Amino acid sequence: MAHLVTLIPGDGIGPEVADATVRAVEATGVEIEWERVQAGLGALAEYGQLLPDDVLASLEITRIGLKGPTATPIAGGHQSINVALRKKLGLYTNFRPVRMLPGLKTRYQDVPLDLAIFRENTEDLYAGLEHEIVPGVVESLKIITRNASMKIARATFEYARREGRGKVTAIHKANIMKLSDGLFLKCCRDVASQFPETQYNELIVDNACMQLVMRPETFDLLVLPNLYGDIISDLAAGLVGGLGIVPGANIGDNHAIFEAVHGTAPDIAGKGLANPTALMQSAVLMLAHMGEREAAGRLQRAIEEVYRHRECLTGDVGGTGTTSQFTEAVIRRM
Ligand code: NAI
Repeated sequence: MAHLVTLIPGDGIGPEVADATVRAVEATGVEIEWERVQAGLGALAEYGQLLPDDVLASLEITRIGLKGPTATPIAGGHQSINVALRKKLGLYTNFRPVRMLPGLKTRYQDVPLDLAIFRENTEDLYAGLEHEIVPGVVESLKIITRNASMKIARATFEYARREGRGKVTAIHKANIMKLSDGLFLKCCRDVASQFPETQYNELIVDNACMQLVMRPETFDLLVLPNLYGDIISDLAAGLVGGLGIVPGANIGDNHAIFEAVHGTAPDIAGKGLANPTALMQSAVLMLAHMGEREAAGRLQRAIEEVYRHRECLTGDVGGTGTTSQFTEAVIRRM
């Protein structure tokens, strides 16, 4: 029976990388019925809503989404679509594996780099609770709960046990935010004590940034509250060749949405220059999540072969290929 997947192409380069990824997934031979729905600026123009009701209705049925980036108007009255989807569907884990692809020329090309980020996805400053106290003074509330912190900590350590990963690093600023980040840390310690086989340590976020740049190979799994997770994800993407590479998954108890770390890249949108690797690697995570591990492995290996031979790579990773030339190369390798 075909798998049902909600496809949200998104804005900017979203439709380009989504089409490329759909082609690559279809070339694996796995049967997927895509329910294509619109969210983002395109949906706002057409239906007057950034996140129309049929997006959530579709995800309620399919429980799996593949999503391109969506634009959120800066400093406007709209809530981010990602924040809304993550909160509404309880997608509390944002999982982002950061690995070097073969053949890529980056400053870190000789470093054995293989880390994964577990970013809490539903609260922190992303709760979006901001208000003006008096003119000229605003307040933004940082919400940290025991419930959400325990969930992300458990997800991290359970992954470590399942995948045989050795170390979890919790990243925080509890020296300043003693209550909020303090609670996050306490939850990580509680969970760590139940997983004695996994090494556990803690780093203050500013120091973590420096260590990541100087010694990225010493990191394994990172668990972070929402805002630090967002920032460190882009930093980590920079270690392995940029935002065109790093995939992601938003996972809850009943639903999962797979999407790249990158945004809509308005500077290159519509030019056929976008690198679809990040969304293709997100689709690899999606196929594995659906139980299609063999197809996931084949797609991953095809991507790696294309990089190893530096075939039709896109401009962001030093090539001259277009989105569709790269996609065809991946399909040929499969
Ligand atoms: P961005 O990730 O869109 O772009 C940053 C830089 O990376 C740009 O130079 C861009 O060309 C490059 N880049 C990103 N993805 C690439 C790819 N696949 N191939 C080649 N180059 C790539 O970040 P920016 O400019 O801060 O955000 C633009 C918009 O995207 C904003 O409206 C923001 O809200 C939205 N956004 C949406 C996300 C999502 O829906 N998941 C995540 C991050 C940002």
